[in-house]
This record gives sequence, structure tokens and C-alpha cells, in this order.
Amino acid sequence: MDYRSTVAHGPALSQLNADALLVVLTADQGSTGDPVLDQIAKDAIAAGDFALKAGKSLYVHRPAGVKAPRVLLLGAADGSAKAFRAAVAKGVAQIKDLGVAHAAVAVASGVALDAAHARSLVLAVADATYVYTHTKPSAPKPAPLKKVTLACGQEQAAAVKHGLAEGAAVAEGVTLARELGNRPGNHCTPTFLASEAKRLGREHKHLKVEVLERAALEKLGMGSFLSVTNGSAQPPKFIILQYQGGAANQAPLVLVGKGITFDTGGISIKPSAGMDEMKFDMGGAASVLGTFRAVAELQPRINLIGLIPACENMPSGTATKPGDVVTSMSGQTIEVLNTDAEGRLILCDALTYAERFKPAAVIDIATLTGACVIALAHQHSGLFSADDELAAALLQAGQQAQDTAWRMPLDDEYAEGLKSNFADIGNVGGREGGAITAACFLAKFTKAYRWAHLDIAGSAWKSGGAKGGTGRPVGLLTRFILDQASAGKDAIAPRPVKSSSKTAREAAGRVARKVVRTPAARTPRSAGAAKG
Ligand code: BES
Ligand code: MN
Ligand code: ZN
Repeated sequence: MDYRSTVAHGPALSQLNADALLVVLTADQGSTGDPVLDQIAKDAIAAGDFALKAGKSLYVHRPAGVKAPRVLLLGAADGSAKAFRAAVAKGVAQIKDLGVAHAAVAVASGVALDAAHARSLVLAVADATYVYTHTKPSAPKPAPLKKVTLACGQEQAAAVKHGLAEGAAVAEGVTLARELGNRPGNHCTPTFLASEAKRLGREHKHLKVEVLERAALEKLGMGSFLSVTNGSAQPPKFIILQYQGGAANQAPLVLVGKGITFDTGGISIKPSAGMDEMKFDMGGAASVLGTFRAVAELQPRINLIGLIPACENMPSGTATKPGDVVTSMSGQTIEVLNTDAEGRLILCDALTYAERFKPAAVIDIATLTGACVIALAHQHSGLFSADDELAAALLQAGQQAQDTAWRMPLDDEYAEGLKSNFADIGNVGGREGGAITAACFLAKFTKAYRWAHLDIAGSAWKSGGAKGGTGRPVGLLTRFILDQASAGKDAIAPRPVKSSSKTAREAAGRVARKVVRTPAARTPRSAGAAKG
């Protein structure tokens, strides 16, 4: 899609050269300053065909005095970027099946367009025109829309242009994340995620991508991550992305994305109904890849690391069993009380691995708990952090990007339920506060740096008729990274390692070198066949 801005106001708006003209009006701002367009709106309102309200729209074909052959009046709740996004989304949904290759968008003269409006426009258009086709040859043809032009005032032009460019990069990232999420589990395997990451690395010169295979993970002592792969015929992959936009000695931000390409629950198997949606359990990984795509395009002055532990969670004769105890890379032993709480088992080793980058901060993104969906539904991602400054920056980025998060508690008391008689910790607390106990589990592996956790179980995809990946929280993450890159000395900086934590001290005293695996687990497929 080609996004442009053009300086046009007053009577110039009805003379914009496009296949369709979208006119966004609000309750307080009902005039564009163009007499022809204003008259059309006035007449339509008088006839009861249109109202200056959110969700209202009216299509007018070949109105006299307007150059564009189609005019679409759109009501918006107010002049905010959020309301503008909703109005544009509605408008594009209406014209996308028409023969419109070029749409122009004009707003009421009293609405001061800025970069946020421009970003909103791009996100709305990208969202409304995305179609999943990869495994659906019968999918509707993509819209003919190729170009969108936003009309703005002279004094708004610079901000709008900047916003469009940023929005386009974010939209590409969001689209990549959606596409990866939508691909079925038999297509989107850990190997596929790794190859997609490598492709990104080839396409962007500031991006380096490396993939660690099973042998390397065994050597690192990632016994917790590897325990989740025991039942799967698909080899695990540990994907490392490195973007260098800042000075070589500048502490990087690290993003860690949960990459479970299918979550059956393992031996603690999930019920059948709706299990197909567990192909979206790599939403965290997808958002990391999408964010890297946006960042590689925008090239902010910052260093960024992406870590993606990717594998399947399957039941089999070689799968990890409830009660099995595994040794994480940190040295802490974990009793796997429920094999369906696998996200935290792969993340904890990635979080330990993150220490080597001496990060400014680490943010993990995971479709971690059904409990988070119960707590927050699908509106906000769950944000967990003991770091007020980091949490505030992430919440603000979410607001700015219209990809919001809601802060949840993370008090130590919630970790009580993770006690185990047979290991340092168990992998589940109780049913109550499940999103919080999951975050508490991760917290035990993040003592060396500033850390935040985003539980995107409710926000990464939609169910029902509109089933599909949302690409969230690529918008939030990209905004946060851009904010950090431009914050200069106010940016989040590494803080000294806390050594007060008992767990961290204990873990530091231990060395995990070897992952103990049964011979059968080494070759899951043949082992299964022999017993069968
Ligand atoms: N991937 C799921 C979380 C999930 C469930 C996301 C439903 C979205 C919708 C995760 O691996 C999981 O199974 N979590 C368990 C944890 C429990 C066993 C403590 C859950 O939420 O039920
Ligand atoms: Mn699970
Ligand atoms: Zn899962």
C-alpha cells in the first residue's frame, strides 16, 4: 500500500483526484470548510440519512461538484486519533470491494491532524484490507486499493508524513505477526519460524539472526525448555535476533517471545473444543518478529535483541510427565506438575539466556494463561512488572499505539503456591490468580535485570467468526522502542544486579551443564514406533 499526504483544505477537498473520497466528521466538527462537501453532509443529515456520530456512514455516488466519483461520509466520536481510526476502518470496509484503487481521506477542518492520526489511518487501512490466503485458495480477492492519500493542512504536513511512514512500518510488522499466527500448526512449525526469522535477517542489513539447534540447547543446560519438546517430532529452535542501531557498548533491550507453535497441553492434555486455537500459542514469538520487522525498517538508534524459544507441546510416550523434575538453565529445579503450563518452562530458560546481553531491560511476551483472558478479556494485554518506571513506559506506549495493556499485581505473596516438595519450584500455583502466579514463576528467573511480562493470551487473536491473529502487541512494542530510542538520558538504563534474592543466590551457586535425557526421548518417532 502506498500512503501519501497532500496539503489541501477548504474548496480544494472536493477537487481531490481519487477514486473515492472519505470525509470524516465529528459531532462538534461537522464542517470540512469545502462548501460542496458541507452541503452534501448537511442535506444528508436533514434527510435523516446520516448523523455526526461514531459508526454512521453514508455512501454517495457521483455527487455534483466533487471530482472523486465516490464520496463516503463517516461519523467519528470526536477528533481523537482513536475515533479517527474507527471511522477510517469503517470507511475502508465499505469501499474495499468497490473498484477503488486510490482513496483520499479528508477530515473536518477543526480536527488538528497529527502523527497519531496518520498512524491510525495506516493501521485502519492495513487492518481492513488484510486477507489470509495462504491455505485458502478460495479466499476473497484482495481489495484493489493501492494508494491512500491523507489531506492535511500545511502546518500538519510534516507530522502527518512522519506518522504515515511510521504507521506503514508498524503495519508491516503487524501483518507479519498476523500472518504467522494464522498459519496452521502443520505449516508454522518451529523450523518455519526460524526460517522466517532468517529471511528477515537477509532482508534487513542491520539485523543478524542466529538459530540454536537442540545440541546447542543441551550444552547450554536448557533442561526446562527441552522438557517441553520431549513429546514432539518437530525439532526445537532457539531464535536469536540482533538489531544494532545504537553504539556497540549501549545496553540493549531484549524481547523474549513464547514460540509454542502448537499447545496440546502435553500429557495434561487440553479438551478438544477450541484446541485448534492453540496454533496461536506462538503469538509472543510472532509479535517479536513483527516488531523486529518494524524496527529494521524504521532504524531507531537503539540496540535490540530478540529471543524466541520455539517448539511444540505434544503428548507421546516420550513426553514429559506430571511430576517430572527438570533442571533449568538457571540451575533451579522445576517440578512439572502440569505439562500444560509449558510457556513458563520455555520462557524461563530464554530469560536466563538473556542475562548475557547485560540488558537495559527485558520484556517477555507470551500467550501465557487462560486466567489472563478471564481477568482482562480481549481489550488489554496483561502487564506485570515490579519496575514502576518500565511499567509506566509500556503502559504509555500502549495508549499511544492504541494497543493497550493493563497493569496487574506481582506481589511475592502470590508465589506461595509455586512451592514444591520435590524441586525448587513447581510450575503451577492454584487456579486462582493464575495469570499472576505464572508471572511470579517467571520473576524467579529475572533477578539480574529490569523486567516486564506481557500476557497476551486475550489480545493476540480473536475467536468466533473473526477468528484470526491480531498482530498485537507489535504496536505497543514498536512505540516503546521508538520512545526509548528518542529518550536519550531518560531512557530505561540497566540497574545493578540485585543479589538480595535467595533464589538468585542459590541459583548462582549451582552449575547446570548437562541435560539428562532418556535415550528414547532422543528419537521420539522411532521410539514411539518400536513400542507401538
Ligand atoms: N497457551 C496456554 C494459555 C492460553 C489458554 C492462552 C487459553 C489462551 C487461551 C498455556 O500454555 C496454558 O495452557 N496455560 C494453562 C496454565 C495452567 C495449566 C496453570 C492455562 O491457562 O490453563
Ligand atoms: Mn499450555
Ligand atoms: Zn501454551
